[in-house]
Amino acid sequence: MVLVENFSVMFGNFCAVDDISFSVKRGEIFGFLGANGAGKTTTIRVLCGLLYPTKGKVTVAGIKFDSKDAEMAIKRKVGYMSQRFTLYNDLTVEENLSFIATLHRLDAKTYLKRRDYILDFISFARPLTSFVRSLPGGIKQQISLAAAILHDPDVVFLDEPTAGVTPAMRARFWDLIKDLARLGKTIFVTTHYMDEAEQCERIALMRTGKIVALDTPDNLKKMMFPDKLYEFEARGEISYSYIQKLKVRPEFEYFEPFGLRFHAAFKESSEVEEFKKELESDFIAKEIRPTLEDVFIRTTETK
Ligand SMILES: Nc1ncnc2c1ncn2[C@@H]1O[C@H](COP(=O)(O)OP(=O)(O)O)[C@@H](O)[C@H]1O
Ligand SMILES: [Mg+2]
Repeated sequence: MVLVENFSVMFGNFCAVDDISFSVKRGEIFGFLGANGAGKTTTIRVLCGLLYPTKGKVTVAGIKFDSKDAEMAIKRKVGYMSQRFTLYNDLTVEENLSFIATLHRLDAKTYLKRRDYILDFISFARPLTSFVRSLPGGIKQQISLAAAILHDPDVVFLDEPTAGVTPAMRARFWDLIKDLARLGKTIFVTTHYMDEAEQCERIALMRTGKIVALDTPDNLKKMMFPDKLYEFEARGEISYSYIQKLKVRPEFEYFEPFGLRFHAAFKESSEVEEFKKELESDFIAKEIRPTLEDVFIRTTETK
């Protein structure tokens, strides 16, 4: 559904996306992770036909991105929920959706059918005459999703769709994402939430314009942590300086504090027991499976 080969985007002399290649299958939930400025939004804008790539080959929903005509064709095939909130607050839900329908040149009958189907899909239970500004944040995001899929696109690009949304609403939003994938839609989503990334079939980790890792969440964990990972949990209060002193110890291959705990991988497995013993009075240690947060930290630190 998406095929990107040696693709770069320059803004003047600045390289925002630097020679990336990847593909996304039909019906896949593909996650894009990376710090702010990594190049996620720029990539999405190209794949939606809003920005021309400086270099490389792009095919979306079978359409090669090589002319202005292709740009129009791609826009019909893709839905885009932008990182910025794009609904009109001072219009009603109905007015917003019918405006989007006009942009996509949907005829009245198709529009009403799609509108009712999608509002039912997201279980929108309020009056259509509700002003967008009166809706809670999570519902607004669902209406934005409805707007992005109104024209029944094959590929849906969601750029930080749950930023600033409550945990319950984030979970609800992800149920919708999974339903869409089950309907055969291809989902391309960016997020800063690791619990969300965990729900993607594959994830690309992006750093300063490059993809530094791309695989399933499980494979990324295995790849980044081939050896055992331990969690040390403080038995009581510990000071910040205590953790800082531990951090510089030479035994660690990986060390990351999380509040009163830290995760650690060791250079030599023979050092583990001795270290555990040394810290026994202050910390309880156990072997754990790495989280995606560990993977993310490690990838962005080491490559
Ligand atoms: N239109 C633009 N002109 C110049 N630089 C841009 C433009 N859009 C984005 N950038 C820069 O490109 C880099 C990647 O931005 P972006 O794709 O928005 O990253 P992300 O979505 O991962 O946070 C950033 O350094 C950003 O400042
Ligand atoms: Mg962005």
